[in-house]
Amino acid sequence: MTHVIDGNAVGDRITDELAESIEKLEANGVTPGLATVLMSDDGASETYVSMKQRACEEIGIEGSHYDINPNVPEEVLIDCIDELNEDPSVHGILVQMPVPDHIDSQAVLKRIDPMKDIDGFHPENVGRLVAGDPRFVPCTPHGVQKLLAATDVDPEGKDVVIVGRSNIVGKPLANLLMQKSDGGNATVTVCHSRTDDLGAKTRRADIVVAAAGVPELVDGDMILDGTTVIDVGVNRVDADNEKGYELVGDVDFESAKENASAITPVPGGIGPMTITMLLYNTVKAASLQADIPVELPDGTSSYRLE
Ligand code: GUN
Repeated sequence: MTHVIDGNAVGDRITDELAESIEKLEANGVTPGLATVLMSDDGASETYVSMKQRACEEIGIEGSHYDINPNVPEEVLIDCIDELNEDPSVHGILVQMPVPDHIDSQAVLKRIDPMKDIDGFHPENVGRLVAGDPRFVPCTPHGVQKLLAATDVDPEGKDVVIVGRSNIVGKPLANLLMQKSDGGNATVTVCHSRTDDLGAKTRRADIVVAAAGVPELVDGDMILDGTTVIDVGVNRVDADNEKGYELVGDVDFESAKENASAITPVPGGIGPMTITMLLYNTVKAASLQADIPVELPDGTSSYRLE
């Protein structure tokens, strides 16, 4: 029987535990604050940012949001970041990616105060993760790691194949899962668009993480019996419904489910975990900036949905 991993349930459990950390900060006069910045009129990005803001509101994080016209020069975005860096009520700054082509995304990410970089994309935080001393782990990779832990799938000694080499998911996830620490110690292979015979690689894996942004790239033929399959893809494909689209992952769920021992659905798998780990990093940022130690949930108590 294949376990369908419920990201909403695991995310909710971690969020409930985070609420206790927020109470402790509040008792010490600190309300964690998260500022989101959107420089795009892409519908999916708008939806993601509003989901992040809603999650903040529900848990008692002070959310603020800045919409920047996607046609203005880079200086406008940089000035916004500078103001947020200086604002003591803002502990975390998130610039929703992607930004328009005329914006140098690396320059933007470098401008964010590394102590407020709750995405973990600033080179200082990337370097700390690679060096084995993470401060803010990027939210989606962290969500993948917590979901594996909550499902009693320990990456230690396992072959993990990650499909996708983005700075947001593939690269940080590879670093995270090969760390010499709990939740790591895996043997990691990173595949991408130039990989020859992708199926030969995924069929060797104990855990497959699909994060390529290609609808239903990974199907049942590419998954051997007993594999854990984590689908990070969220792709809008045309559909004959009210919205005109539906969401599909990077995995063909129905065929992969035939062979997988555990699999995440889309939606309801990794998506909610990304938001939970954003709240987690925001609470951590507030704790570090206010110098008030709080315990953060480790998400390892097991949870299964048959
Ligand atoms: N775009 C897609 N995923 C993310 C994310 O985790 N953070 C930001 N800032 N942008 C994204």
